[in-house]
Amino acid sequence: MTTLPVPLGNRSYQVHVGTFDAEQACRLLTDALGAPTGVALLTDGRLLERSARAQTLVALLQQRLRNAAVLALPAGEACKTMSAVEASCQWMAEQGLDRGAAVVGIGGGATSDHAGFAAAIYLRGIPFATYSTTLLGMVDAAVGGKTGADLPAGKNLVGAFHQPRVVLADLGCFETLPRREIAAGLAEVVKAGLIATPAILDRIERHLVDGTLYEPAALDELVTMSIRMKIDVVTSDEREAGRRAILNFGHTLGHAIESAAGYELLHGEAVSLGMIAALALGEIRGHTPRQLRPRVRAALEHLGLPVDVAPWLRPDVLARMDVDKKRRSDRVKFVFVRQPGDCLLEDVRLDDLKRDVVAALV
Ligand code: GLY
Repeated sequence: MTTLPVPLGNRSYQVHVGTFDAEQACRLLTDALGAPTGVALLTDGRLLERSARAQTLVALLQQRLRNAAVLALPAGEACKTMSAVEASCQWMAEQGLDRGAAVVGIGGGATSDHAGFAAAIYLRGIPFATYSTTLLGMVDAAVGGKTGADLPAGKNLVGAFHQPRVVLADLGCFETLPRREIAAGLAEVVKAGLIATPAILDRIERHLVDGTLYEPAALDELVTMSIRMKIDVVTSDEREAGRRAILNFGHTLGHAIESAAGYELLHGEAVSLGMIAALALGEIRGHTPRQLRPRVRAALEHLGLPVDVAPWLRPDVLARMDVDKKRRSDRVKFVFVRQPGDCLLEDVRLDDLKRDVVAALV
């Protein structure tokens, strides 16, 4: 197990990365939560149905924690609606949870966004912990305290900053995680290499060549490196006043594609397309060297991720860029990569982005 501290003053916590048995996971969660008066175990419903690992952990938490009750959430992104969050809060009230209670989110990134948001708003805020079961959830949503839900108008348009008390990234869950989901999570790992830690990109490429990418040791190292990078960014800028925005690389068009696709595409698949578009836009503005896009495209293609952006550059998809939560008036803070590990934030007019992305890629 690797333990990574997240130093945020009185909101500090630890991220534990490893393969945990239920006893160990239960102890790490209960140690961090103390002695809550009740616990809402908000769990991805499909995971709960299918994963013996999750079932054993939930049963143990119910034994060890006072008034612990489990609620099965709609699977995946379907739980990130305001009505689903309201249903969880209503259920928590029906369970009699008071201000001494806590929430544990068990599942991927959507589950931890939902669980953290419910914890942030229930009784104006109670503690929560995250047991992350997907690669994407581990390297992105679980760390940094962004919680929230989607609106029909767009992704993550409501939310709150609410730091967890502890995060467990259980690599043992990869045994049953579909390869498509692992690959989609690796899109965010590629992003980590592009925006901050070039060694991550080098390692992915090496593992792709020698066929070792999906070996547990390789995934462990890449997940740990990516979480380290995220911790470094979020502790330098917890509330996204500046630097944290680099984590949005590939997300302006990525989110637009994801919501236009009705969440048929996985988040990482949409981000794969969004990163290709962002690299092309960087070339047009003279920020990104032309050799970088083919290099990144080759890695993403090798991962089986979508890279053909042109079919997505329809007016209805481009219009969704207007509801990007980073928009200020007619501009958005856009992330350009100059070299792996070196990026630039620039205020760009959305209309210019739309025009240029079509010119570059259609
Ligand atoms: N997922 C982007 C962030 O945590 O800031």
